[in-house]
Amino acid sequence: MKLFDVYPINPINIVKGVGSLVYDDKGQEYLDLYGGHAVISIGHTHPHYVKRLEDQLHQIGFYSNSVEIPLQKQLAEKLGHVSGKEDYQLFLCNSGAEANENALKLASFYNSKKKVIAFTGAFHGRTSLAVAVTDNPKIVAPVNETDNVIFVPWNDEAALEEAFENNDISSVIIEGIQGVGGIHVAPESFLQKIRSLCNTYKAVFIADAVQCGYGRTGKFYSHDFAGVNADIYTMAKGMGNGFPIGAISISPKIQAAYGMLGTTFGGNHLACAAGLAVLEVMEQDNLMQNAATVGAYLIDELKKFKQVNEVRGRGLMIGIDLPAEFAHAKKDLLFKHHIFTGESKPNVIRLLPALNLTKAYADRFLEAFNTVLSSATVLSNS
Ligand SMILES: Cc1ncc(COP(=O)(O)O)c(C=O)c1O
Repeated sequence: MKLFDVYPINPINIVKGVGSLVYDDKGQEYLDLYGGHAVISIGHTHPHYVKRLEDQLHQIGFYSNSVEIPLQKQLAEKLGHVSGKEDYQLFLCNSGAEANENALKLASFYNSKKKVIAFTGAFHGRTSLAVAVTDNPKIVAPVNETDNVIFVPWNDEAALEEAFENNDISSVIIEGIQGVGGIHVAPESFLQKIRSLCNTYKAVFIADAVQCGYGRTGKFYSHDFAGVNADIYTMAKGMGNGFPIGAISISPKIQAAYGMLGTTFGGNHLACAAGLAVLEVMEQDNLMQNAATVGAYLIDELKKFKQVNEVRGRGLMIGIDLPAEFAHAKKDLLFKHHIFTGESKPNVIRLLPALNLTKAYADRFLEAFNTVLSSATVLSNS
């Protein structure tokens, strides 16, 4: 059997990882500023994480949601505490798309309405409703098309108000920082406007924190910068440091009923052990503070490059918008300097490293980036 060929992959076989470094099968070291797409939050093979998963595996790896799983309650308590939303309720699932799917569905159960507002540039996943609220027709199959989704231009308050006036809105879904869309920070005033319109029209405010959440920006949810609460927060990526786990954090005003949501794998013992290990390390090592400090340093330094169009982001979620002549920058960083980064179209380099990235590694990147940009300037001048 062959693999279903859907990923344009780099010819690199990563066999080992330690902290912010990974190694290929030839022993080549790479600096990982991508974290496998914002997933590695506490660093590869963190000793506490490895031990907690190993210990759990020796006890029990999985049992279904038909029995008590005290680890789920421990995770809920810890997550409530670290996120500062202690009165919220936790539903566990397995991925970001699934978290958004559950959030949109729960909102509709809650207010018995159908229409959802999403924004231009949004990415919320690839399952049916998650992809329907994603602004990329190329990945929406005919079966996913629906009249229930209204796309409003990003940060257009007048258009948002109009969408509310003309439709019976169930929920609004928004990333605190658009990730796949190219690192665009949602303005605080826009998030506040969503909150107030959701209050007026009894709609549910869904904060997609799958990529921008879990401490990456220096606050637990990047939406928190606006000083208003969402009704549902969705999360995944950094939550398990590579172990597949997702969740929604649900306001106390939304009440649960048996059968409303459900999953086979969500909240299993191993997943909860991974989730707890991540939060324990985040707390113990003050990783949100580190993300804020090292992120601010990187952003300040990157803004000094004259060749860069714009540097966007917060904490350790950074987009470097480059002119077209630097289209090769990501590949040069990877193949000449052995640094993994992400990208968004047309020409944005995305940095999504582990939250314990050191200043020394940030400097290693800045030096390599300087070389990449300078060699491009020499080429374009010659
Ligand atoms: C903001 C956002 N939401 C949802 C998702 C979907 O997550 P998953 O790939 O775990 O389904 C992603 C993935 O990139 C994302 O960036």
